[in-house]
Amino acid sequence: MTPIKRMLVTGGCGFIGSNFVRYWLKQHPESQVVVYDKLTYAGRKENLHDLWENDNLSLVVGDIGDLTLVRRTCEEREIDLIVNFAAETHVDQSILGPLVFTDTNVRGTHVLLEVARALGIRLHHISTDEVYGHIPDEHQSVETDELAPRSPYAASKAAADQLVQAYSITYGLPVTITRGANNVGPYQYPEKAVPLFSTNAILGEPLPVYGDGRQMRDYAHVYDHCTGIEAALLRGEIGQVYNVGTGREMTNLEMVDIVLETLGKDHSLVRHVTDRPGHDRRYSMNVDKLRALGWEPKYDPRQAVAEAARWYAENSWWWEPIRSGEFREYYERQYAKRLIGTAPR
Ligand code: NAD
Ligand code: DAU
Repeated sequence: MTPIKRMLVTGGCGFIGSNFVRYWLKQHPESQVVVYDKLTYAGRKENLHDLWENDNLSLVVGDIGDLTLVRRTCEEREIDLIVNFAAETHVDQSILGPLVFTDTNVRGTHVLLEVARALGIRLHHISTDEVYGHIPDEHQSVETDELAPRSPYAASKAAADQLVQAYSITYGLPVTITRGANNVGPYQYPEKAVPLFSTNAILGEPLPVYGDGRQMRDYAHVYDHCTGIEAALLRGEIGQVYNVGTGREMTNLEMVDIVLETLGKDHSLVRHVTDRPGHDRRYSMNVDKLRALGWEPKYDPRQAVAEAARWYAENSWWWEPIRSGEFREYYERQYAKRLIGTAPR
């Protein structure tokens, strides 16, 4: 496999992208990393606050749908690998306003594939367990399973996966895909459940649990996602897909208990609110294919959620400005009516 010298990390100012950039530069200090990011509400330069002085890191602000800019960036920076994290990522936002999900997640990925094809660059695509859809109790998704997405977000991610695979088959483009489970950890925008519940609990605000809260997720630490992507990049087979998670799930109610216990907060903050439309009941992935590359997760889901909650308790400098800004408007729209008349469980 060609050595990775100059990497374009799209979406590198987001949650997982910024954790990945930090991890990669620490492990591979000889690499050059160019972050390419539109800086949407979820993309924040401060997610990489400690690294902007590093000569091996630079930022291009742009849309992955801008073919001219993506191509020029790849040519001028002599990029030999694109890692595509850039996406609209929140299921609830995809229910409120789905079209931007198609623009970025489908068309944007397609533009990256076109540039990669024109310049002969390898592309690694970051996908999600949501492409498999709701998983019945007795099953764990394997990489060859049929894709059965059920939300606009998941459908846009599944479409992107299929484009990536089509470029591998049709043009022989060197691609790999990783499908991540539900990540938690530092710098996750507080629209997502674990940072939302952690910051609400710290502020003494109610925790809005959708429906009965018995939905199951594989809450995986973002660190393990980063090491999983590294394994796929360095040792994965071109053309292959790899699931990345802990392989173990918990209910949302269990996740809430861990958040509250970690933060020393009371269960009276919990409120059951109207469910998310089309809410997938369970995700579960088999991660043996990635394990066969010598990868092993460091955190189990309990540790992952507790570590994440602790990070929010210790880093209010990061989330307080977000929560007092445009996030407030989204929060009101998403939760105000749902919370009216609810009582502690
Ligand atoms: P995020 O929402 O925190 O960050 C997304 C980043 O993409 C932001 O920096 C944003 O500015 C950037 N971006 C959005 N649209 C763009 C565009 N058109 N052009 C350029 N940049 C753009 O997302 P995340 O949670 O870090 O997710 C990263 C990737 O991992 C996504 O592809 C997501 O589908 C996937 N994923 C996420 C999870 C999870 O639990 N968060 C799990 C599995 C897979
Ligand atoms: O599984 C991987 C996916 O994980 C990623 O592809 C997505 O980008 C990421 O957002 C995440 O999707 P989820 O929908 O699973 O994550 P979220 O944090 O939104 O919700 C986690 C669970 O908590 C889910 O069952 C919905 C529930 N939930 C969420 C919110 C925001 C609540 O009960 N209340 C809430 O307010």
